[in-house]
Amino acid sequence: MNTYSRKTALITGASSGIGAVYADRLARRGYDLILVARDAARLTAVAEAATRHGVAVETIRADLNEATDVRRVEERLRTDSAVTMLVNNAGIGAAPGLANANVDALEQMIQVNVTAPTRLAAAAATAFSAAERGTIVNISSALALAPELFSGAYSGTKAYILNLSISLRQEVAPRGVQVQAVLPGATRTAFWGPAGESLPAEMVMDAEELVDAALAGLDAGEDVTIPSLPDRADWDSFNAARGRLGPNLSRQHAADRYGKTAA
Ligand SMILES: NC(=O)c1ccc[n+]([C@@H]2O[C@H](COP(=O)([O-])OP(=O)(O)OC[C@H]3O[C@@H](n4cnc5c(N)ncnc54)[C@H](OP(=O)(O)O)[C@@H]3O)[C@@H](O)[C@H]2O)c1
Repeated sequence: MNTYSRKTALITGASSGIGAVYADRLARRGYDLILVARDAARLTAVAEAATRHGVAVETIRADLNEATDVRRVEERLRTDSAVTMLVNNAGIGAAPGLANANVDALEQMIQVNVTAPTRLAAAAATAFSAAERGTIVNISSALALAPELFSGAYSGTKAYILNLSISLRQEVAPRGVQVQAVLPGATRTAFWGPAGESLPAEMVMDAEELVDAALAGLDAGEDVTIPSLPDRADWDSFNAARGRLGPNLSRQHAADRYGKTAA
């Protein structure tokens, strides 16, 4: 491949699960890779497998809970003009419930699931907009749409990623930058720990199938990809209902049913 046509994808959380599959699939697509995570041994294993596809692979050990590490990755996104794709994938879960929760653990989750990807998406959006090209993939979750099913705080971090993605797409699409939010359902990775064993098999997708579907959605230009959703029209009608709320979400007077309208 001509060196001038090379393209690089930076993937966070690339040491296992969904991120490791993105590394494999993007290497197969000819992307050089920058793989980011904490576990050096697992990063190296993913990197070695990806290099078999003839691409250059670099690993960055970074803890996205540490502000200085996040800044280091941001800096790379801002300054390395070869980077044309960001996969904002690193994320952690939380135990259900807020009363009696380990709030320090929740705060760390918010740092990894919200603060870090926001900073990285901002850095990528700045660089990619200036270059008038690039792709940002943000891994949200189907739980973004289902806060009743799991930890509300986790669901909230993923709803944040969904909203950020929809808004960012509107902002940067005119500059030639593609933004996609991916909403996986339960996926067979280390994410669930031992609890994964008790999930009904018909609800759990393999990470390979998940990423292949997400990349097909990206190729099709989707803004939001829900790999397991059989009928895309269901998402479209959900979104249309949201749109219908729009004109009435901010008005001078309260609705009649509250009995507060000024005489
Ligand atoms: N599995 C599911 O059912 C599911 C469903 C919906 C959405 N998701 C989302 O998919 C994404 C990937 O999760 P997964 O299922 O592939 O889980 P996973 O196998 O546990 O992978 C999580 C990745 O995030 C990295 N990571 C975690 N904390 C980090 C930190 N502080 N700093 C840097 N990297 C960190 C991990 O690497 P190190 O440990 O090496 O740092 C690992 O590479 C997450 O955002 C998750 O919320 C998963």
